[in-house]
Amino acid sequence: MSLEVRRILPEDLKPITTLQGYLAIGGGKGVANAKSMSPEAVIETIKKANLRGRGGAGFPTAIKWGSIRNEACPVKYVACNFSEGEPGTYKDRYFILKNPYQLFEGITIACYAIGAKEAYIGIKRKYKPQVKRLFEARKAMEEAGIIPKGLIKIHQGPDEYLFGEEKGLIESIDGRYPMPRNIPPYIQGINFSPGSPNPTSVNNVESFCQAAQIMAKGPEWFRQVGSEDTPGTVIFTVSGDVKNQGIYELPAGVTLKTLLYDVCGGPIGNHPIKAVFSGVASGVVTPERFNTPLDFGSMRKVGGGLGSAGFIVYDESACMVQAALKFSNFLAKSSCGQCVPCNRGTAHITEHLKKIELGEGSQDDLDAIFDIAGRCTNQTRCFLPTQESILIPSIIKTFLNEFKQHIQSKSRNERDLILPKIADFDESKRAFIYDDPAKFSL
Ligand SMILES: Cc1cc2nc3c(=O)[nH]c(=O)nc-3n(C[C@H](O)[C@H](O)[C@H](O)COP(=O)(O)O)c2cc1C
Ligand code: SF4
Repeated sequence: MSLEVRRILPEDLKPITTLQGYLAIGGGKGVANAKSMSPEAVIETIKKANLRGRGGAGFPTAIKWGSIRNEACPVKYVACNFSEGEPGTYKDRYFILKNPYQLFEGITIACYAIGAKEAYIGIKRKYKPQVKRLFEARKAMEEAGIIPKGLIKIHQGPDEYLFGEEKGLIESIDGRYPMPRNIPPYIQGINFSPGSPNPTSVNNVESFCQAAQIMAKGPEWFRQVGSEDTPGTVIFTVSGDVKNQGIYELPAGVTLKTLLYDVCGGPIGNHPIKAVFSGVASGVVTPERFNTPLDFGSMRKVGGGLGSAGFIVYDESACMVQAALKFSNFLAKSSCGQCVPCNRGTAHITEHLKKIELGEGSQDDLDAIFDIAGRCTNQTRCFLPTQESILIPSIIKTFLNEFKQHIQSKSRNERDLILPKIADFDESKRAFIYDDPAKFSL
């Protein structure tokens, strides 16, 4: 029996390529139901469902929408975060290739609930097939009168990790580099001016799609699956050393063990699984924690995090010094440089890790990493250095012996790990295609 429960992905996984096809499976009902209620009742429905944002932090969507609705400023915006820059994550791009229509419904519902007259989808320019599908779906839905003409703009942005940070996303929509501003978008939003703060709700692609389903089928239906902490389904991306890599929609709250072994078939080779990373924002999870339910609360309790549900799996042949180095280097190269502690701190941690990895390190390097990790978040504008300060010490503490062996024996592991920045998914081969590693070379 398949453990997958497809509620927002098409049941047969066949892409929905026409609006008629979408309407035939009940598309359009979410917006229609929402418009038949007051905006407050829409927010109440999302609250009853306890929808938690799927962009990483699991923030309750109804609280975000409700607080923006209650802001005095009459100009409000909605922004859809389609940056998907987290290593190990491909769910939004996969989903939109299967069904782009649901997203437009979700965004239209959010605009109605919040009282926004305009919305933006911020998508990376390089996601060409998804950009194409968005333009086609918007045209068809506008022509059919399902969504208002001109309500939703499509903003194509740069291939930067910070384009996905919500303050960076808003900066990019405003025509600047995605360098996170100081003030969050729910206070200072798109196109703000001193007299008009324009509060903006930034939500992930999947969050809007889940909201559309909730409005179509009701909060009780949504809560039929999932856990108390995180109702509904989650779209997981699993890459790395498992037999069946891929993208899977499962009820929140299934265990990591179920995902790794029953769904993904366990390790690909002869080595057991050693470590699992949920993107690069949380601590490492090791096998003794594989019984943890995959919801926001449970994963946080074990020092991991659900994040955007993109799991990178390594077996015993992988070197954790190298993994720490690759992740730290990615964060250091992604830092925009506005805040010195972040920019210098992530770069210095990377240098110390590089020394250790090359067999030239000492205990002083380990001490320095912990020291810098404790300071690199001082007076910084965004969460990126916090990710570094959580992730890297967690890897070192968990695999301290491995780091010490590297220092003592001055040896290197021959297996070269790649940074799993996913560019595409070959569904027939069930294999991910990764970005050019040269972009994050050391
Ligand atoms: C460095 C960084 C990168 C991020 N990248 C993404 C991203 O690619 N997509 C996304 O939805 N959220 C990303 N986030 C989280 C967003 O800032 C924001 O919390 C999210 O879009 C809110 O949506 P939600 O409430 O639906 O979860 C990132 C955060 C940080 C700090
Ligand atoms: S914390 Fe780092 S990435 Fe974030 S704005 Fe400051 S320098 Fe840029």
